[in-house]
Amino acid sequence: MSTIKAVIHDTATTASVHDVPKPTPGPSELLVKVSHVGLNPVDAKLGQPGSRVGFDFVGEVVALGADAPSDKFKPGDRVSGIVHGSALPNQGTAAEYTAVEAAFAFHIPQSVADADAVTYDTSALTPAIALYDKLGLPLPPATVPGSPWFLVSGGATTVGLFAIQYAKRAGLRVIATASKRSEALVRSFGADVVVDYHDPQAAIAQVKNATAGGEVAYAFEAAGTWDIILGSIKPGAKVSTVTGPPTTPPAGVDIAPVWLLTAFKTAPAIFPYNGRDAAALAAAVAQLPAFIDAGLKPIPVDLRSGLERIPEGLDELRAGKVSGKKLVYKI
Ligand SMILES: NC(=O)c1ccc[n+]([C@@H]2O[C@H](COP(=O)([O-])OP(=O)(O)OC[C@H]3O[C@@H](n4cnc5c(N)ncnc54)[C@H](OP(=O)(O)O)[C@@H]3O)[C@@H](O)[C@H]2O)c1
Repeated sequence: MSTIKAVIHDTATTASVHDVPKPTPGPSELLVKVSHVGLNPVDAKLGQPGSRVGFDFVGEVVALGADAPSDKFKPGDRVSGIVHGSALPNQGTAAEYTAVEAAFAFHIPQSVADADAVTYDTSALTPAIALYDKLGLPLPPATVPGSPWFLVSGGATTVGLFAIQYAKRAGLRVIATASKRSEALVRSFGADVVVDYHDPQAAIAQVKNATAGGEVAYAFEAAGTWDIILGSIKPGAKVSTVTGPPTTPPAGVDIAPVWLLTAFKTAPAIFPYNGRDAAALAAAVAQLPAFIDAGLKPIPVDLRSGLERIPEGLDELRAGKVSGKKLVYKI
């Protein structure tokens, strides 16, 4: 049996490099030689002991499963995408090779470097589903009439930086919450107004002031407490969340969660597989190359090298030391 190096969660809070079986692509999968891996908070928070780390990757296609679309992919293609990492022994991108559903892989535009390309995976795909599928915003070049306000709670999160860009493309005016340290970053990704979240009442007052009385029609929750969102939105606003709705959702507010895990047939019982969510993820993946060609910016990268350094990155994520950037590892 052929083996490869991969980073495995030894316990809920520790990981190390192991020799593991080389993946074999399933019928609808591609086998990819990984060049870069990106880490996400979910790898640090939900890592199952014995599972392979990693959802995000960039690499080169080396083989196709029997039913994978050979008119779309071929060996040698440079691809990126997303797998169900940190949950199962045989899936995860923090490895020399990974298998990926062909529907969840995309060709990287030539202008984009590998290290930047990996930032378009979980971080760009999650808010794409939230804004286009859950909130129903129009795809570019269409825009929402009247330029309503869009609130991003957690503007400096990786998903927030992409949500801001999508919202601006939809013609919305964007107000984002962030620390002072991240204000310039969040503005550079398109936020029109940035409010500090550390004093929620002051933040709500600033939102009302900036939006002439609280005309926030849409919100995306990526971090923070719900008080700023619920105190800022107008009646009938549409909200999407990636960390979960409030325990007692207020009446009259439509709050749609996004759970990437529900797009995978291997999803755990608490996030059961949902074919509609799989289709939404596949649609978001398919849209990405055109979005990138049209100017969707990658987020800042902290580029490191070697599988053996990944456990240190997981520790930094657990300790909340990663801000305004993606930890990316060259393999
Ligand atoms: N449901 C899903 O499928 C899904 C998918 C992807 C991610 N997620 C979740 O989404 C969240 C964000 O992930 P990520 O990788 O984008 O995060 P991240 O980049 O690791 O988030 C770090 C940032 O969070 C900001 N932050 C911390 N506390 C905040 C608060 N109270 N209000 C506003 N901002 C705050 C900090 O910004 P400042 O510098 O401004 O303080 C910091 O830069 C995580 O909980 C992750 O697990 C869920």
